[in-house]
Amino acid sequence: MKPPDRIEELLTAVSAAFADGALVQLKLGGYHGDEPDLKAVLVKKISTKAGEKYSFTYRYKTRDTIKNFAEHEALVLLREGLANEFRSAQLATTGFDMVVERNGAKMRLKRTEVKGREAPSTDHNRAKNRPLTETGKPWLKALGLAGKNGAIRNDAQDKFRQINKMVEIFAPLVAALKAEKPLIIDMGAGKGYLDFALYDYLATVAKQPVCIIGVEMREQLVTDGNATAKASGFEGLSFEAGTIMEHDASGADAVIALHACDTATDDAIFKGIAAGAALIAVAPCCHKQIRRQMASGKPDATLEPLLRHGIFVERQAEMVTDTLRALLLELNGYRTKVFEFVSDAHTPKNNLIVAEKDGRTGRDRDAVLKQIVEIKAMFGIGEHYLEGLLGE
Ligand SMILES: C[S@@+](CC[C@H](N)C(=O)[O-])C[C@H]1O[C@@H](n2cnc3c(N)ncnc32)[C@H](O)[C@@H]1O
Repeated sequence: MKPPDRIEELLTAVSAAFADGALVQLKLGGYHGDEPDLKAVLVKKISTKAGEKYSFTYRYKTRDTIKNFAEHEALVLLREGLANEFRSAQLATTGFDMVVERNGAKMRLKRTEVKGREAPSTDHNRAKNRPLTETGKPWLKALGLAGKNGAIRNDAQDKFRQINKMVEIFAPLVAALKAEKPLIIDMGAGKGYLDFALYDYLATVAKQPVCIIGVEMREQLVTDGNATAKASGFEGLSFEAGTIMEHDASGADAVIALHACDTATDDAIFKGIAAGAALIAVAPCCHKQIRRQMASGKPDATLEPLLRHGIFVERQAEMVTDTLRALLLELNGYRTKVFEFVSDAHTPKNNLIVAEKDGRTGRDRDAVLKQIVEIKAMFGIGEHYLEGLLGE
């Protein structure tokens, strides 16, 4: 008897979910093709003026590229990709999850029913009640979010939604700062998406005086950012070239870092604590430092099943790293909370650690220290990089 064709089973489910409005996301992983730095492909449904499309986000090491396809093209690409270049596919629908994994010539399929999950909106053009409504701004064009006609480009809708969400989160945090004209330092600013969006909103909509400095080690991005800030008339926004550790953050009311790589997040937290910033907010990126320590150390034997599978080690490393960061912030007088700041359909790196200085440095210091020591011992961790910076 012919073995079941798992790829066709998956594609049938994808196509049905697409038609029923039940498609949440399809993710292709385990890439082993020729494209350098391609990590994964995320597929979702979008509604465009030209009809409903499959939107493919090609996730590279340092960038995303989005392409939209009609169904027949999308299914051809998926069929070829799954047969030749990707080892796994994870389909999420409103009613079930389906995972297909290829191991050599063998294909395994697992389906799990789910309840209460909603499909994301496919509406591409709806402005909702976003903080940034005007789209014809020079910075939106310079950052490639808006086209020449001033409208947000189709392939930048996701990014525009994300930065609006960030403005929604950060604007009230900035408003809560006591300073009249707060100084916000964004460490590892990249192209400065958040800085432009936040500055624009605070200066032109909320009428909140503010000074934002983006610190970035790639000089070209700094030159471009400063030129765009000037062209936009954003006098209080500037970019400085250099590393986070080189930057003198004294006087900062808030230190933020979004997806600064690995320990650069710790550098930013350290600079924030050293400056006594009232607010520190970081969205961590990769978590290699602790993962390496967990791999070379001796975690508690009872954790063995939790650390048996690579993907779970990855997730545990992420949670342990950020738990320790949150505890080290608490140890230094910050009240911390951690939450998802954008949907994981946009990015898996969607945790935001928000720490607000509440001044109660002495509170339960011994208890917090004990927790740090115990967690490190449990996971076989010698030292968290941030601990070393703080000299704890
Ligand atoms: C993944 S990008 C994120 C950019 C931006 N924060 C965003 O969310 O769009 C990380 C940026 O941090 C910069 N970066 C990483 N480590 C840094 C360091 N130690 N000092 C300064 N910049 C750093 C990189 O050059 C890169 O532009």
